[in-house]
Amino acid sequence: MTTNWRTVKGVTWGRETSDGAGVRLKRVIGQPELDFLDPFLMLDAFGSDEADDYIAGFPPHPHRGIETVTYMLAGRMRHEDDAGHAGTLGPGGVQWMTAGRGIIHSEMPEQEEGEMRGFQLWVNLPAKDKMCTPRYQNIEPGEIPEVTRDSGATVRIIAGTVYGVEGPVRGIAAAPLYIDETLPADTVSDHPVAPDHNAFSYVFAGTAEIGATEAAPGKLVRSGELAVLGQGDAVRIRAGQDGARLILVAGQPLGEPIVKYGPFVMNSKDEILQAINDYQNGTFSNPPAE
Ligand code: FE2
Repeated sequence: MTTNWRTVKGVTWGRETSDGAGVRLKRVIGQPELDFLDPFLMLDAFGSDEADDYIAGFPPHPHRGIETVTYMLAGRMRHEDDAGHAGTLGPGGVQWMTAGRGIIHSEMPEQEEGEMRGFQLWVNLPAKDKMCTPRYQNIEPGEIPEVTRDSGATVRIIAGTVYGVEGPVRGIAAAPLYIDETLPADTVSDHPVAPDHNAFSYVFAGTAEIGATEAAPGKLVRSGELAVLGQGDAVRIRAGQDGARLILVAGQPLGEPIVKYGPFVMNSKDEILQAINDYQNGTFSNPPAE
């Protein structure tokens, strides 16, 4: 069978912005150049050595209708919610939070100095799951399998199956692939990606040529840039002279209507008004009445 290689449809740098109580970050998905890549609503890349950029954190705020996926590369964040869950997320760890019908939580730095670096991705929930019971998958760094290939490329598998190894995040509607790959200089990695999924790669060290086919070279993607991949069943990634590190993420598009209001993402305006009402009435996270 011939491989139908995915090419790069577009590249975006994203926009510097701030969120929470004043955390500096770069929004890569969920900004005018790349508003939405179904089912991915938002990708924020945060990274700073300056405490002033992150110390204010994200004080209590709600979410409904989505999943938030936090992947820490450096630093520690403490998470607490209105259902009494609390925990710390450290370097190399992941929290995949399914907000479902509602969570009010805070995400605050658990450090006063030093580097804080990572990603937060928002994944849309299908209409049938938007009001589901909230769920957490807290993954410690040591629970994430790491596969080293003959080329020397190392892949951390957060979600999905790569080279026969399955990542620890399971039971997600979008059947996501989420990997963190480090490639030595000039090495090539080929990754199967489900043909019906939307996919992107964000490079955060070095440079990579992404999306080569048998007939044409790929696109040069620099550190800090996100490449949106076209359709196909695999993608080829070749690291530049300084090597590369990137995340590769794919998920099943939902094709459902979206109405967004800050941290609420539903299918209709009425559902958004309901979310606002529930939040104002203090019934936001309550289970539905029997
Ligand atoms: Fe949040």
